[in-house]
Amino acid sequence: MKLCFILGTRPEIIKLAPIIRLARERNVPFFIIHTGQHYSYELDEIFFAELDLPAPAYDLGIASGGSHLQGEHTGRMLIDIEKILLQERPDLVFVQGDTNTVLAGALAVRKLRTAPSYLTTKLCHVEAGLRSYDDTMTEEINRIVADQLCDYLFVPSDLAKLYLLREGIPGDRIFVTGNTIVDSVHHARSRMDASSILTTLGLAHGGYILATVHRQENVDDPERFRNILTSFDRVFAAHQLPIIYSCHPRSKKMMERFGLSLSHGVRAIIPVGFFDALRLQKHARLVMTDSGGIQEEASILQVPCVTLRNNTERPETTMAGVNSVAGTDPDRILEAVNIMMEKSHEWRPLYGDGHAAEKIFGILGI
Ligand code: UD1
Ligand code: UDP
Repeated sequence: MKLCFILGTRPEIIKLAPIIRLARERNVPFFIIHTGQHYSYELDEIFFAELDLPAPAYDLGIASGGSHLQGEHTGRMLIDIEKILLQERPDLVFVQGDTNTVLAGALAVRKLRTAPSYLTTKLCHVEAGLRSYDDTMTEEINRIVADQLCDYLFVPSDLAKLYLLREGIPGDRIFVTGNTIVDSVHHARSRMDASSILTTLGLAHGGYILATVHRQENVDDPERFRNILTSFDRVFAAHQLPIIYSCHPRSKKMMERFGLSLSHGVRAIIPVGFFDALRLQKHARLVMTDSGGIQEEASILQVPCVTLRNNTERPETTMAGVNSVAGTDPDRILEAVNIMMEKSHEWRPLYGDGHAAEKIFGILGI
C-alpha cells in the first residue's frame, strides 16, 4: 500500500499532519506532493518543522502569484500532479479541505483512472461535506467537485454527512470521523502551553482579542476590508482590549494596495507558528476571524468566536453557541462581539475526540 498526500496551504499541512505522522509510525510507504500554493516561511515551512513532518518528495512551486485567475492556478497544478501520479502510481491519494490544491489533486486522480492510463488509485477527501451554500466562493466549488469525485469521504460531523447524502453521494462512501484538527490540537497541547508568545507580545490571559482576516471576498474588496478594520476600532473603543491581528500575506498586500491603515488599538503581527497561534487563541477574550480552522479551534479551545463573513460552512459552531456569524458591517460586528463576550466558556466538543486519523486508517484497513 503506497500513500500520497497532496497539500499546498497552511491549513492543509496542519490538518493532514496527524495522518502523515500515523503513516510514518505504522511504516506505511508514502510521499508528499506540495503544490507550493503557500510558500512564505510563516505559512509553510514553519509547520513542517513544528509538526515533525518529512520534507515533500515533490515541491511544485505553483504559487498563486496574486492572480485572480483561479482556473489557471488550478490547471498548472493539475498538469504537474498528473505527471507525478502517473509515475508513482500510489494506491491512495489524500486531499484535505477546499483549496485549489484539493481540486487539482482530485481531478488529477480521477482523470488518470480513465483511458489510456486506467490507474486504480483511490481518492480520499479529509474534511469532506462542508458547505457554505455560497457558490460565489471558489472554495465551495472546490469542495463540491472534490466530494463528487472521491471514493472515501471523511466528514467531521453528522451534519456534513447529511449534506452529502442530499447531493446523492452514496452513504457507503461517507464516514463520520471527526476533524483531524482536534488530533492536531491535542498533539500540540504541551507545546502550546510552553509557548512564550504572550510574554513576547506583553499580553495577559483575557487581556486582548485575536483577529485574523484573509478570505478573498473580504480582503480583495476595499469596502468590506475597510469595514472590517473599522469594526476593530469600534470593538477596541467599546472594550479597551487591544486587537492582535495576525496578518496573512494576502491581507498585507491588499492593505497596501487599498491604502488601508490600522489605528492604535490594533496591533498587526506576522503570522505565527501553530503552537503560538493556539496559545494566542486559548488566552484571548474572544477571536474575530474569517478563517475556517479558527472557528473550529475556538470550539476546541473554548474561546468565543465572531465570524467576519455572511455565512459559515461550520454551522455546528453557531448551533453550539461558540460562534456568531456577523458579516462585515461594523455595527453588526460590534453587536455580535458584545453578545459573545458575555457567553460562558463551556461548549461541548463538536468535531470528534482527537482520534480522527486512527479512525481514517481503520476504515481504510491500514
Ligand atoms: C488559500 C485558499 C483558502 C484558504 C487559505 C488558507 C484557495 C482558493 N484559497 O487562500 O481557501 O483558506 O489558503 O490560508 O485555495 N501569499 C504569500 N505567501 C504565501 C501565500 C500567499 O505572500 O505563502 C500571498 C500572495 O500574494 C498570494 C496571495 O497571498 O497571491 C493569495 O494566496 P492564495 O494561496 O491564492 O490564497 P489564500 O488567500 O492564501
Ligand atoms: N494559524 C497559525 N498562525 C496564525 C494564524 C493561524 O498557525 O498566525 C493556524 C490556525 O491555528 C489554524 C490555521 O492556521 O489551524 C487556519 O488557517 P487559515 O486561517 O489560513 O485557513 P482556513 O482554515 O480559513 O482555510
